This record gives sequence, structure tokens and C-alpha cells, in this order.
Amino acid sequence: MSLHSAVNPRYAVLFDPVRIGPVIAPNRFYQVPHASGMTNALPHVRARFREIKAEGGWGVVCTGAVSIHPSSDDAPLPFATLWDENDVRSHALTVDAVHRHGSLAGIELWHGGASVMNRASRLAPLSPSGVPWMATHVGFMGNQRPRAMDERDIGRLLEWQAEGARKARRAGFDIIYVYAGMGYLPYEFLLPEYNRRTDAYGGSIENRVRLVRQLIEVTREAAGGNAAVALRISLEELRGRPGRHAESEAHEVVTLLADLPDLWDVKMDSSPTDCAPSRFAPEASHEPVIDFVKRLTSRPVVGVGRFTSPDTMVSQIRRGVLDLIGGARASIADPFLPHKIREGREQDIRECIGCNICISSWHDGVPVRCTQNPTAGEEWRRDWHPERVARAASDASVLVVGGGPSGLECALTLGRRGYAVTLADSAREFGGRLRFETRLPGLATWGRVRDWRLSQLAQLSNVTLYPGNELDDEQILELEHTHVVVATGARWSRMLYSAMEVPIAELDVPGVYTPDDVAAGATLEAPVVVFDFDNYYLGGALAEHLAAVGGPVSYVTPAGHASAWTIMTNEQPQVHRALARAHVALHTLSRVHAFDGATATVRNQFTDVETRLPCRSLLIVGLRRPNDALYHALAARGDDLKSAHIASVTCIGDASAPGAIVHAVHSGHRYARALDMPEAELYRRDLPISDVAARIYAAEP
Ligand SMILES: Cc1cc2nc3c(=O)[nH]c(=O)nc-3n(C[C@H](O)[C@H](O)[C@H](O)COP(=O)(O)O)c2cc1C
Ligand code: SF4
Repeated sequence: MSLHSAVNPRYAVLFDPVRIGPVIAPNRFYQVPHASGMTNALPHVRARFREIKAEGGWGVVCTGAVSIHPSSDDAPLPFATLWDENDVRSHALTVDAVHRHGSLAGIELWHGGASVMNRASRLAPLSPSGVPWMATHVGFMGNQRPRAMDERDIGRLLEWQAEGARKARRAGFDIIYVYAGMGYLPYEFLLPEYNRRTDAYGGSIENRVRLVRQLIEVTREAAGGNAAVALRISLEELRGRPGRHAESEAHEVVTLLADLPDLWDVKMDSSPTDCAPSRFAPEASHEPVIDFVKRLTSRPVVGVGRFTSPDTMVSQIRRGVLDLIGGARASIADPFLPHKIREGREQDIRECIGCNICISSWHDGVPVRCTQNPTAGEEWRRDWHPERVARAASDASVLVVGGGPSGLECALTLGRRGYAVTLADSAREFGGRLRFETRLPGLATWGRVRDWRLSQLAQLSNVTLYPGNELDDEQILELEHTHVVVATGARWSRMLYSAMEVPIAELDVPGVYTPDDVAAGATLEAPVVVFDFDNYYLGGALAEHLAAVGGPVSYVTPAGHASAWTIMTNEQPQVHRALARAHVALHTLSRVHAFDGATATVRNQFTDVETRLPCRSLLIVGLRRPNDALYHALAARGDDLKSAHIASVTCIGDASAPGAIVHAVHSGHRYARALDMPEAELYRRDLPISDVAARIYAAEP
């Protein structure tokens, strides 16, 4: 299909080629550097993951941060390396895969400085002046302070960057990055709090920017005119500092380096603002920080902001904010976003919901997972393509009972395979838990999980939807489908926990509620105590909601923070701020021990010291139990199933094992891929490339 026959003329500008130094990006869709958690340990998994994005139309596809030397070692978090020829070959797989689709491949050369602990290499972390980075964030906490770099260290760093660039060229990369963002070494030189040097690299802004300038220069020399040199830089903190010669230090830095890099890639300073969750930041939230850059350079500028709407993208270009539309999460949630716009199928874009489960994968140390895109990370090892599925291998019909995230995904993928599918739900609306949760503060965007699937299902004539239909085992037997999938979700329990974190007993007395009761419309008499040991988003979101509708609300958790697991999704600081704004009283390291209808007795998790909180309603956000009664009822009808020609009954999603939405969607997808193809349940194991004998790196730099 030719571009002009399909693309909406409003969006045609997104497909203009853009020159970046010596190379040309075929369009404006730019997958900015983002880690995949795959690292050099899984080179084929990684290459296929990136290839799919190039196939989906991203004109530039970059790596995540790639360490240039063992003194930048992020263990135990996953990190990529470019230390030896094995690494070159490993990355070359990605480059070749990206090139196969006519896209450019970029590499982000990275030195973590004081923000890495070098737990594996045991080399002292490097820093401008020995000041540690983020020492109170558990993941970054270490008991070794960084070493202040002397001039010889700076010389070595420049040589590592140059050598990294030479290796990057050998691997075939088209764009080579200098990375001065997010607390990493070159960024630490930019901030006077971390850079207290009195030599040519400290003091004035001209001196603080010197290292970045030199890194660009050595990269350019090593690139030899064959690859573009990009600068990725965080500008949030610098923009907040008045400059001596310009509006802010960010303006000064951009002015000082103006046309030195071939590309400016501009971003925020910390993961919670850079990769901001949709609960707390809208699309394009970076604009107020980076909007000035294009005015100060003639080089192209790429920026990010959870862009999923082509109108927002075009607006950024037309208003002179950006030249290239950067995407990390949008490219994970829908690697085919550019092609869908190009083909005039904007409505088919599977928009990122901004939940940051992808980020949590990195914190978990595993390949990237995505709530919206169950194929993310599975492209090579399970051979799952985001847009293509195997044709149905039989003329079986499938009944899916339950239209929450797993049932919707299962029905959609089965439908795409060509099976005759019936999707039934007892509720009048599909969506399962999302029906209620998307009405809570900040969670509306998560409704895309349901809405996108329903809009795709509406295009399939072989899938029939039956909302408002509660089916029991008898009725299901009468329907005589070949396969039955039970996706009936889970329910919250009134279970309490002991100090040993062992479930003890249900607290089934008046005044005790679960999130399901709130969803069903229960009115909770104030004051309310929310007892959260689920630890993800719901307890915090419910506390915020209840404070808004009735207050006062106390929030009790055995963890050290509210919604403790949201440290993994970048949301924790914002959760605390939201609860403070809502005047929710926090009681961390505490558990509810007793409740008498007027008072909740709370005990400190470590000391057992008791506090009594006024409480008319106790909301327990703790354990979920699977709604698996229907599954067990069916499974017990062995002979009847045979007589009804039902070949299988399978329980998926929360009805099998309650979890986050990402797991439910994956479970539904996996079932649908594997129907009549049991081999699709298996996955291949990847191995690192090790053609070349390992070198020894142990020497102190
Ligand atoms: C899973 C994940 C890993 C990331 N890893 C990196 C990284 O290695 N280097 C980097 O510069 N930025 C990294 N980022 C930040 C993104 O490049 C980007 O700046 C941020 O996600 C905002 O863009 P978005 O709204 O399009 O997601 C990562 C983001 C995600 C979601
Ligand atoms: S996991 Fe969530 S935030 Fe990340 S890409 Fe997928 S939908 Fe977007």
C-alpha cells in the first residue's frame, strides 16, 4: 500500500525522513534508548525484540544503556555490556536485525559513575568528587562510597568511550550516544552538588560541561564520519537553576554544546518523572522542561512523553518542540504503532496504559514484560509475533467464561486465529476488575486494556459476545463447545496476617469490607482504616478515593511505604504525595490486630507496640482468592463433559492464580496461542555469544 493512499494527510509529516549527521532516519518514529532486561546473556531474545520494532516501522531503534567498562557495573540489575569482541558480536545480531527492515540502529554508551555499586566487579565506583548518588533508595544503596576521579581517570573514561564507539562501529551501529542523564557519570559532572572539583572540570558551567563536550568529541572521532553522535541529556534539574548568562543552566548547557552533537535526545532527570506513570502524569509531560532546546540548536531534537496519539505527535513537530517522536513505552506496548498510522489504522494502536510494569521488569532483573503487549519479551523464545498468530489448527469452538483482562485477551487471540469463540460474562459490561478500578483516581487510562480489546473484538465476525450472562456448569454442558476456558477472576478476602506474615483468619464481622464491596457500591462509614498488605496500587488508590468521598482515612501497612511494590513501577513518591494531599494518615510497619466496630488496634510490625485508631469501617486490601468454583464444578463432570463433546476445560488468569493485570493478559494469550499447538507452551533457551576467549578485567582502573 503506498503511503499517500492510506495515511491520514494530517499525519503524513510523521513519515518525513530526518537527517541525523551522516545518516538518515527513514521517518520520525524514534525508539529511544531503553533497557530490555535481556542483556548480552540473551542475545537472540534481544535482537528479535528490537527487530520487531523495526518491522513495525520505528525508523530508529536503539539499545538501552550499554556499559563501556567494568567500572560501570549495575549488578544485580540487568545491564548490557560492550567490553569485548563477544559483546560486539552479540550487539551485531541486533544491528543486523534492525537493518533488515531499513531502520537505523543506535547504541547508548553508558558509564554509571556513582549511581552503580559495581557489586560484581568490586571496583570502586567513579565520581566527580566522591559524593554518593541516591544513597537512601534501597536498589541503589551500597556500603561503598565512590572514588573521586583524578585527571588520569578522566583520560581513561574518554578512552573507554572512544573504544566503545569503535566497537559500536564494528557492530554496525548508525547512531552512537553520549549519555549524560539520570544520575550517571557525565550527568554528575553537570551538577555542582556532585561536582565539587576545583580543576578545569568543576565550578563554572563551562567547566562542568567540559567532560560532556570531550565525550562527544572523542565519540565523533571514533565514529569516523560513518555514524551519528547523539547526546542524551537530562534537563529537569538544570532547568530549575537560574543561569548566569541565560534563563537557566539548561539553556546554558544547550547553548554551549549547540551543534556539537548530531542529535539532541532530551529527557527528565529521574525515572519517576522521565518514565512517569499515567496515574500521575499526562501524555507529553516533558514538554515544559525541554521545549526550548530546538531554539538553541540547528540539530534535530528527539524527546519523549508516553506519546501514543498521532495528533499529539504532530502537534509536537508543528509547534517546533521536537523533530523526532521518541518512544520507549509506546514502542513496547505496540511495536507496530508507526505502521498502523501509516496504514490509516490509528484506531488499532494498542496504546500504552502507563502502568510501568515494563519498568518493574527491569527492577525484577528479567526481560521486559508489558501489560498491554503479552508478546513483549516472547518474540524469540516463544516465537510470538505481536501482529501475527498461527491459524486455527482445528474447527473447534471455544467458550470463554469471564470477560476481564485474561478472558478478553484469550477471546481476541483465539478469534484472530480463526476459532469460533463465544465470550460470556455475568456482568453487563466487560472488563472484570477494570470496571471498578478505572474509576479510581488516576486509573482511567488503564481502561485501554479493556477498550482496545473490545474494539478489536468488534472487528471479528467469528467472536460472539454475551455480556450479562451468568453460566453454570449445567448450561455450559448444554452449549457443547469443544473447549471451555474459565476466566472468572478473583475476589478479595477478609483475611488478616500475623506478625510472621502468615495468613491467620478471616475477619468476618460488621464494618469490615473488601475492595469488592466498595466496587459493589458499599458506603463506608467514616472514619475508615485501609489495611493494605497487597502492597501494589489498589490499597493506596482506594485510600485516596475514600478520603475524597468521605474521609477521614488512615492507611495501615506492614511495609515500610504506602503501596510498597510501586517502588518497582516508579510510582512510590507520587503515591505518598497523593495520600498526603488527600490527608490520609499513614501507619507504616504496622498491621491491624483487632477491630471492634469503633476502634482498630494496630501493632507495630517489629516492636508490637499498640496504637488504637478510631475506625467505623475497616477495608482490608490483602489476599485475593480465585473464583474457581465453576472450573471445579466442570472438572468434576468428567463423563458429562465427554457426552457434551467438551474436549477440555481450562482455568486461566486470576481464576487460576490471582495476580497483576499483566499476568492475567499473558495467561489468556498463552492459552490462545497453545490451543491445538501444545508446543507453543514451550520456550527456547537463549545463550550468550562466547566465540572469543574471555579477557580478564579485574585490574583496578
Ligand atoms: C523498561 C524501560 C527501560 C528503560 N531503560 C533506559 C535506558 O537504559 N536508558 C535510557 O536512557 N532510558 C531508559 N528508559 C527511559 C526511556 O528511554 C524514556 O526516556 C522514558 O521511558 C520516557 O519515554 P516514554 O514515555 O516513551 O516511555 C527506560 C524506560 C523503560 C520503560
Ligand atoms: S507495561 Fe504498561 S507502561 Fe509499560 S509499555 Fe506496557 S502498557 Fe505501557
